Amino acid sequence: MFIFDFEFVISNLIKLETVDSTNRYCGRMDLPNVSEFTTVWALRQTDGVGQRGNHWFSEAGANLTFSVVLHPVFLTPARQFELTKAISLGVSDWLISLIGDYTRSADSEVSIKWPNDVFVGGRKICGILIENRIGVRYETAICGIGLNVNQTVFGAGAPNATSLKAITGREYGLARQLQGVIECLQRRYDVLLAAGGSGSQQLDGDYLNRLLNLGVERRYIYKGSVISATITGLSPWGHLLLTTDDGSRLQCAMKEIAFLHDE
Ligand code: BTN
Repeated sequence: MFIFDFEFVISNLIKLETVDSTNRYCGRMDLPNVSEFTTVWALRQTDGVGQRGNHWFSEAGANLTFSVVLHPVFLTPARQFELTKAISLGVSDWLISLIGDYTRSADSEVSIKWPNDVFVGGRKICGILIENRIGVRYETAICGIGLNVNQTVFGAGAPNATSLKAITGREYGLARQLQGVIECLQRRYDVLLAAGGSGSQQLDGDYLNRLLNLGVERRYIYKGSVISATITGLSPWGHLLLTTDDGSRLQCAMKEIAFLHDE
């Protein structure tokens, strides 16, 4: 039996001990009638879903695994990456505020690996899986977030993982952390909402400032081959822009490029 450590002020919170996946749980809801920022939080997922069809492993009761339902109807489907920016910035804002006392410069330590992994000091602390429901317009986004909090031993499948506790040595109350992250997400989402359909220059600038490897030559796997290239920015639709060492310009969708794990 897990104990929820904190009395909540988040409205629309569904707290579960065990579920297959919080994203799937949201997907089974009557989404058009689910209010904005409804949050489904589980202490244990038996079948957590990650990017690219991977499984998301997370030690039961040690980390945050939750999904937030949003209705970004003000964005056209083509601009859905604006939401990715807001969500990854919100999570990284919370981390910067927490680990600032433990690192020389939390701002440079916390980065976003395109499109939306959050890293601290080159190690992954948070994975984000945004699943969109798009009809004639952008209707609903299920924003699934797996944030490593108190887990310190990671399996062979996650050689590059870290957690808050691994960084600071402290044990964290999960509910308190959840509330902090949600508040940061709300702040970034409000900026997006205020900017409307064209996106926000503030979010664009902050996202680029935190983008891992921006302006630095690194090796990537592009369409099956290893290339040396420098990330130069993003297209208006969120594609990654790179210049290769022979001067070619690339515009990559998510499945076309992979980062090499050792870089
Ligand atoms: C990634 O592969 O990096 C994305 C991982 C996303 C995991 C979270 S945990 C909460 C939510 N529910 C899921 O099944 N997946 C997301």
